[in-house]
Formats: sequence, C-alpha cells, structure tokens
Amino acid sequence: MNLPRHFIDLDRFDATELRRILDLAAAYKSGRVNGKPASGKFLAMLFEKPSTRTRVSFEVAMKQLGGDVIVMDEKASQLGRGETWADTARVMSRYVDAIMIRTSRAADLSEAAGNADVPVINGLTNQSHPCQVMADVMTLEERLGPARGKIVTWSGDGNNVANSWIHAAVRFDFTLRIAVPQSLRPAKKLLDWASTEGGKVSVTEDPAEAASGADCIVTDTWVSMGSDNAEKRHNLLAPYRVDEKLMARAKPSAIFMHCLPAKRGLEVTAGVIDGPQSAVWDEAENRLHVQKGILAWCLT
Ligand code: CP
Ligand code: NVA
Repeated sequence: MNLPRHFIDLDRFDATELRRILDLAAAYKSGRVNGKPASGKFLAMLFEKPSTRTRVSFEVAMKQLGGDVIVMDEKASQLGRGETWADTARVMSRYVDAIMIRTSRAADLSEAAGNADVPVINGLTNQSHPCQVMADVMTLEERLGPARGKIVTWSGDGNNVANSWIHAAVRFDFTLRIAVPQSLRPAKKLLDWASTEGGKVSVTEDPAEAASGADCIVTDTWVSMGSDNAEKRHNLLAPYRVDEKLMARAKPSAIFMHCLPAKRGLEVTAGVIDGPQSAVWDEAENRLHVQKGILAWCLT
C-alpha cells in the first residue's frame, strides 16, 4: 500500500517537491488551473487552538477544489476526553480523505500521521507552521522574484513560524538572519540541521545588524498561543520590534511580512504593518492559494 502524502514539515521535502506545490498554488491563483481534484472528497479539520486564516482558507480552498470539510475542535470531540490521537486518526481515516490538524504538541501530530491511512496536514504546532511559510515564500517571490539568494531577516521570538522559516531557507536556498534574544533562540538541533544541510542561517542578538541590506523583514507575535510569561517576553523582545528605523536598514525595495494575527505597537509598529512596504494582506490571501496547492498535492 502506498503511504499517504502527509504535509508535516518543509524539511521532509526536497526543493523540487516544494516548488511543485508552489507552482500549483500559483496556477490556481492565476486561474491557469481550475480542476477539481477534491471532487467528492472530505477534509476533516481538528483544532486544539484558535484560528481565523487557517480555518477559513482551508475550508474555501477545499470547497473551491470540489470537496467539502468537517471542522471540529478538541473539546467537541472525544480527544477532549482522552481518546488518543492514534485512535482518532485511525477512525477519521475511515470517513474522510485528508485530515488537517492544529495542535499544541508536535508529538500529537506525529502520532496522528503515523496512524492515519489518509494524508495529514500540519495546520500549526508548537514547533512549526509549514503552510504559513509556504504562503510567505510565495508572497516573497511574487514581490521580489526567486527566493534563491534573497536575504530574509526574522526579528523576534524564535517560535514555530521561525522554525518553518529555517526549513524554508535551506530548501529554497535563501539567507535567513534571525535576530532573537539568547533565551528565545530556535533549538540548537534545528540550527545544526540547517548548517549540516549547507543552509545560510545565522543567529544574532542585534536586529539592526540582521536587517542591514535585507530583502524582507518578518516577525510574529511575541506571545504565541499556549506561551506563558507574557510580561517577561515583552521586556525581552521590545528591542526586536519592527519599526520604521529597522525597516530603513533594509533595502529600499524590502517588504515586511507577518503571518498575523498582529499586535500593533508590540512586535511591529502600525506605520510598518500598515505602510507601503507591508505585504501582509497578499501574504494572508496566499494562504488560500497555497492550501489549494497542498490539498491538490495530498489528494492526487
Ligand atoms: N497565520 C495563521 O495561521 O493565522 P490563524 O491562526 O488565524 O489561522
Ligand atoms: N506563533 C503564532 C502563530 C499564529 C499563527 C502562534 O503559535 O500563536
């Protein structure tokens, strides 16, 4: 039996496969492709955490591809009463054609994928957010041309989204400079992986240095869903705020990205996120097109 085509993390793909998914996304966006690969198929979406973009873009994508969705949150399912992810995945595989999961623990996603007979898609864990960063790379390329050789600066928390940016930098061959306080750095294991793969990923505590000459500056919330110590994080991360001064260190053509939701005045100033260099609305739109690319890849 063929293994299901899971979409778990970008490091598990080679560059050609990721490029195929992005090409599909662009083809759906432009209308060059309008097939219905999800015709008659169901996607189940399991949410342990809140969502606006992921929830809506997957539902619209699946329906526009000819399929349908079932959305459940943890509390409304037996997961909330202790049924295992393994058993849940086995049962769901008998009903639906793919499962998207947003969960607090990456281990739960792995348990589900290891026991599902249908594709499992990572809709965010504490460790990564690959669907988001595929949309980010798509946006970067629409605005600035091929990602290869570009300089992307991450300024802020070394969180789940930053981790997927590390995977993307290695696979799409761009430079990623991460400006982050020492205590919030991405895991050493992940940075070692990037270095073993020949990736151009560096880490600094100096956002101004990291932003110098960049093509893109990106950040995310200082307090991710499920994170604690908000006050401590705010104090640590204040010097990493993306403001007009930091943007001015980048190239004049540089864009600003943020996966959203954003807190104006914290990780980014209103002047930057609502200003002319911001690409955040295209970035959010591209979630829809990328979900189509991912769904088409998983289902066919
Ligand atoms: N960026 C993102 O994943 O947004 P949601 O949490 O609204 O899905
Ligand atoms: N890092 C954020 C991303 C939200 C889409 C979080 O995990 O809450």
